[in-house]
Amino acid sequence: KKVVLAYSGGLDTSVIIPWLKDNYGCEVIAVAGDVGQGKELSGLEERALKTGASKLYIEDLTKEFVDEYIIPTMQAGAVYEGKYLLGTSFARPIIAKRLVEIAKKEGADAIAHGCTGKGNDQVRFELAIKAFAPEMGIIAPWRTWELKSREDEIEYAEKHNIEIPLTKETNYSKDKNLWHLSHEGLDLEDPKNEPDYDKILEMGVSPEKAPDKATYVTLTFVKGVPVALDGKELDSVELIKTLNKLGGENGIGIIDMVENRLVGMKSRGVYETPGGAILYHAHGMLEEICLDKETQHYKALVAQKFSEIVYNGQWYTPLREALSAFVESTQKTVTGDVKLKLYKGNIIGAGMTSPYSLYSEEVATFGEDNVYDQMDSQGFINLFGLPIKVKALLDEKRGK
Ligand code: ARG
Ligand code: SIN
Repeated sequence: KKVVLAYSGGLDTSVIIPWLKDNYGCEVIAVAGDVGQGKELSGLEERALKTGASKLYIEDLTKEFVDEYIIPTMQAGAVYEGKYLLGTSFARPIIAKRLVEIAKKEGADAIAHGCTGKGNDQVRFELAIKAFAPEMGIIAPWRTWELKSREDEIEYAEKHNIEIPLTKETNYSKDKNLWHLSHEGLDLEDPKNEPDYDKILEMGVSPEKAPDKATYVTLTFVKGVPVALDGKELDSVELIKTLNKLGGENGIGIIDMVENRLVGMKSRGVYETPGGAILYHAHGMLEEICLDKETQHYKALVAQKFSEIVYNGQWYTPLREALSAFVESTQKTVTGDVKLKLYKGNIIGAGMTSPYSLYSEEVATFGEDNVYDQMDSQGFINLFGLPIKVKALLDEKRGK
């Protein structure tokens, strides 16, 4: 028997390897999906083998993650519950897709993951596995095993002579990738506590520690895709890395929220998405001049639904694909330059241009113009206001 394990090298997935071998008598093939989590991946192979895996795949998914998941979600303007830029949510489907590919290649009987039974991630992994391998076995040890706490896990690891990765990574429950870093657990579990940002933040600094001088950046988009920064063409991965640095330095993209998980509970998290916050802001600004009013308003409804679909792990569904097609169609004219000022946690617009701009100074001006007849407004307001006027007249007649 063979099991493919979604492996990170943390305590949970390290303990899962001997546990799977004990309980299923199976070979364990570890797979780490590289979605830009950086240094977490170094030394991973040695650790996986020492822990009992028969081999480790490290799959570089970063470019695909950015181009096929991050950018389409950003173009949709999808933000979960008005705050969360979905950094973990859209990473799960792409990792799961690769787990399935490897499981099929290896002829594995099941895929295992280290998500708890209380979270969103289990749902995201498993929906994606079902989409690509409907008959694949799924093993989620957290839902069944006898280990109830970190202490139990550590004891189990010691019994099995596994080296415990007791770095400071084992503090908050964290999930890191190119787009974001999430923090949950410990003191954050009580919403009354202010997060200790000096201790928590890794991608940047708090606004108080940001420079007193603003940083300007200009982003260039072509059909809704960011292609250049300050006039310099950059690959999408490099572009996000650079924005992360600039945003992080300026205290940007720090979110503290209580969110509604798919499984029903509220949970509190702190998210760092410095580059993402800048990208969303710039792209949204550009749409203000490039989209017509009706499309812009309708797209905001789509954004809401899109955020729920991504959050809930329904990436590989007909509805997500259909909404993506709508979004892509709206992006045809989202081309241009947006200048932003980054200052102590704030992103402030500093001007934009687009060859497709629908903004007409001639129409909008407070000065004199030859294209807008102010007399047209009288009839317009009479008809637009007709229901209000009729109601008021009838109310008057009825004496209320
Ligand atoms: N609450 C966020 C989400 O559901 C972050 C989850 C982080 N996951 C983790 N395994 N630490 O997308
Ligand atoms: C987990 O429960 O495994 C992490 C948190 C989440 O999935 O929401």
